[in-house]
Amino acid sequence: MSVEADPTVQAVAAQHLGADPRVVFETADADAWLDSYSGPRLALAYVDCRPGKFHRLEDLLNLLEPGGLYIVDDLLPQATWPTGHQDRVDDFLAHLPDRLNLICTQLRWASGLVVGARI
Ligand SMILES: C[S@@+](CC[C@H](N)C(=O)[O-])C[C@H]1O[C@@H](n2cnc3c(N)ncnc32)[C@H](O)[C@@H]1O
Repeated sequence: MSVEADPTVQAVAAQHLGADPRVVFETADADAWLDSYSGPRLALAYVDCRPGKFHRLEDLLNLLEPGGLYIVDDLLPQATWPTGHQDRVDDFLAHLPDRLNLICTQLRWASGLVVGARI
């Protein structure tokens, strides 16, 4: 499942992954998709936008199957971040240990990752 709001970006994903019958491409806002998705639970969520990361994390985690992987990136400071974004990231990281249905670790690698598993 590739959920992407920008049709141009989605087209790039389809260009590379479109031959794989396992991949469904949803050109939609992720908040709207979270509201409407009713398919099978997911084995992996790689979240690269705010819904499912900085807000609605619980809604996203509820879509993961037990043992399903939760991965997010862009968590190490970047010069291009707008004012206030560091606080958003800090808050996200500070509250991850509070999640009773997720076990995860932070990787100080590449853009900064969190890799977790739904429990
Ligand atoms: C940080 S970019 C990453 C793009 C790509 N993964 C890369 O590494 O080059 C985030 C992507 O999420 C998409 N996006 C942002 N907010 C979104 C939302 N609310 N719903 C769906 N897609 C969203 C943007 O269009 C953009 O393509």
